[in-house]
Amino acid sequence: MNEKLSVLKNECLKCKACELGKSRTNVVFGDGNDNAKIVFIGEAPGANEDLQGKPFVGRSGKLLDEMCESVGLSRNTNIYIANTVKCRPPENRDPSPYEQRACAGWLKGQLEIMRPLIIVCVGRIAAQEVIGKDFSISRQHGEFFRHGKMYLTAVYHPAAVLRNINLKPATVEDLKKVRELYDKITAG
Ligand code: URA
Repeated sequence: MNEKLSVLKNECLKCKACELGKSRTNVVFGDGNDNAKIVFIGEAPGANEDLQGKPFVGRSGKLLDEMCESVGLSRNTNIYIANTVKCRPPENRDPSPYEQRACAGWLKGQLEIMRPLIIVCVGRIAAQEVIGKDFSISRQHGEFFRHGKMYLTAVYHPAAVLRNINLKPATVEDLKKVRELYDKITAG
């Protein structure tokens, strides 16, 4: 158990900084190994996540878990998953820039506490927020960007993979590179 992270989580569960605090069922803070050095970041919770209070638990979440597990990554062991926005936007609309700004401090706090070695953005929206606003998911997925001691990368969103199953091999390959980089960084 990561004490600092659970203190931050308890504060986050009370957050009313934007309108989403009124419509949510649960705050979706994050899930996985609290001390993991690989952190996945998605966009915002959907309906299933809002109901269960956990990120990526719907159909696309199951696919993400399956692809991760095929390369030895799992929230039971070596990864943690969070979102840029912690509460579900109604009707699954995109979070507004105001809501994104109001929420940004929570993810920043999570990353400051966890100090991951690798951040994996899940989908274009998270990649544009975390890596850079001009990030192109189709051209730059699987590339690593150095940021201090940390490596940033992005993979296709599993919802996009469900819509176009041809994206699956490239996504598994990108996740395999994450696993290999992690093994390289942590060896010796
Ligand atoms: N999509 C996301 O980006 N995050 C979730 O938690 C679920 C679906």
